[in-house]
Amino acid sequence: MAAEAQTTPTTAAASARPSTRLVIDKATKIYQTATGPLLALDSFSAEIGEGEFVCVVGPSGCGKTTLLWALSGLHPLTSGAITLDGTPVKGPRPEIGMVFQEANLLPWRNLMKNILFPFEIKRLDAAPYRTRIQHLLETVGLAGFENKFPRELSGGMQQRASLVRCLSFDPSVMLMDEPFGALDAFTRDEMNLLLLKLWSEQRKTIVFVTHSIVEALFMADRILVMTPRPGRLAREVVVNLPRPRTLEMQSSPYFVETAREIKELIHASVKK
Ligand SMILES: Nc1ncnc2c1ncn2[C@@H]1O[C@H](COP(=O)(O)OP(=O)(O)OP(=O)(O)O)[C@@H](O)[C@H]1O
Ligand SMILES: [Mg+2]
Repeated sequence: MAAEAQTTPTTAAASARPSTRLVIDKATKIYQTATGPLLALDSFSAEIGEGEFVCVVGPSGCGKTTLLWALSGLHPLTSGAITLDGTPVKGPRPEIGMVFQEANLLPWRNLMKNILFPFEIKRLDAAPYRTRIQHLLETVGLAGFENKFPRELSGGMQQRASLVRCLSFDPSVMLMDEPFGALDAFTRDEMNLLLLKLWSEQRKTIVFVTHSIVEALFMADRILVMTPRPGRLAREVVVNLPRPRTLEMQSSPYFVETAREIKELIHASVKK
């Protein structure tokens, strides 16, 4: 693949990775604000492989959402480049789906019409995807709720609907910005397990932003830890836990110790 020829793996994990899909090369973002320019992201570089589950953690305001929007092609970088499968990401790409912290369902549309919304935006005929959508609804436990409106669904159900909406058109890359951050701990565990199940079935490439180190360790193959703003890559942590992941793993000495190390790294960088 062209992307492989252009990139040089920089870590042991990278060299063991399958083919590189996303290359983030010195991504830099400066926002122009009323009080002057604000450097949000500073020369952030990383590579993400085919089918990899990568989590991004870092202190609030360090540029995680900025990075994700740049990856989506919806918000341009000030300098640096992002490529997907060897071609620059400069606008929305059909291979990319996004899930946000809020489910962002349209209140006046029922569940099915919300799920079909991306097809309208993309002017894509949904008919060939109907079976896929039905299967997804069954997998996430929302079959039978197609005619319900968002206000009739719990927070967890709304987030499951937004997962279906993202997966409905079969993107190969999923960008997720704290998708379960607003949920209670129990529902979040459920959603984490559900996402891992979907990922193992469909092998998407996932970039998942979270505040929770536990969630990152539980989900990821690799964690990108960011510095406080301006966001840079502080460390890359390869997660040495077998799959499928189970909630019991969260109490293993390896899990507890690695979570402590990442927490200390973030705290130390915030204090600097
Ligand atoms: N549109 C914008 N205009 C000006 N400044 C912005 C804009 N979006 C974000 N910022 C600033 O850029 C920095 C990074 O913001 P960003 O939302 O990417 O952080 P984050 O890591 O996602 O934070 P959180 O964990 O709280 O969601 C912050 O200082 C924020 O105030
Ligand atoms: Mg954010």
